Amino acid sequence: MPEPAAPIGVFDSGVGGLSVLAEVARLLPGESLLYVADCGHIPYGEKTPAFIRQRCRIVAEFFRAQGAKAMVLACNTATVAAVADLREQYPEWPLVGMEPAVKPAAAATRSGVVGVLATTGTLQSAKFAALLDRFANDVRVITQPCPGLVELIEAGDLDSPALRQLLRGYVEPLLAAGCDTLILGCTHYPFLKPLLAEMVPASVAIIDTGAAVARQLKRLLAERGLLAQGPAQPAQFWTSASPEHLRNILPLLWNKSDSVQSFGR
Ligand code: DGL
Repeated sequence: MPEPAAPIGVFDSGVGGLSVLAEVARLLPGESLLYVADCGHIPYGEKTPAFIRQRCRIVAEFFRAQGAKAMVLACNTATVAAVADLREQYPEWPLVGMEPAVKPAAAATRSGVVGVLATTGTLQSAKFAALLDRFANDVRVITQPCPGLVELIEAGDLDSPALRQLLRGYVEPLLAAGCDTLILGCTHYPFLKPLLAEMVPASVAIIDTGAAVARQLKRLLAERGLLAQGPAQPAQFWTSASPEHLRNILPLLWNKSDSVQSFGR
């Protein structure tokens, strides 16, 4: 039986999940956080579901070996591929996944047109199709896969001319089609919000699910009497690529310089 003081494991294919980690740290400042970035295998958006499931199992086992009391799958692409498998594998372990915010977007749109920016893997999944079936019957949803964005963000690029051009090419067709609500369906994309705010009219709502995931995590922990009272240990980071690279870009994306170790699994 885990203790409330046990850490929480947060996982993404790379640095995108740091946008979720920030929401978890904001809502639950007493929690000790572990973060694994599978940077050696990005982008998950172009990998097979079987490959992603295997990586998720390896990381889940690692978190459990570290004594983690819960896991956040801070990656939409990993969630569609692996959350069911992990839940079957660890039925008692609190596990929170991500999904594109189709439900709130469908409720919020006034034009009736919603745009979704996400990875190819997420947009092609049966889980995403089911989400549309369930919540988007009365609105038009235009999906836009965004190959290339994740790689640039992983390199620490949040506003180069090349990135701007790529992003504009993805967003403009959605605006031209009348979208007034834009879903960020990949945890890397919230880091582009300042740039998006320059590119879209102020009347367009930009929605992501990091804060909702943090609230869901809090609910699951509270139900089990597992909320930590603090003080939290400093967050610990692991990466399957270069620790030095992650160390260099962490201040840009997380604003703290914490320990970074190699994830050699
Ligand atoms: N951050 C991940 C997501 O939320 C995907 C990034 C990738 O393609 O590796 O979908």
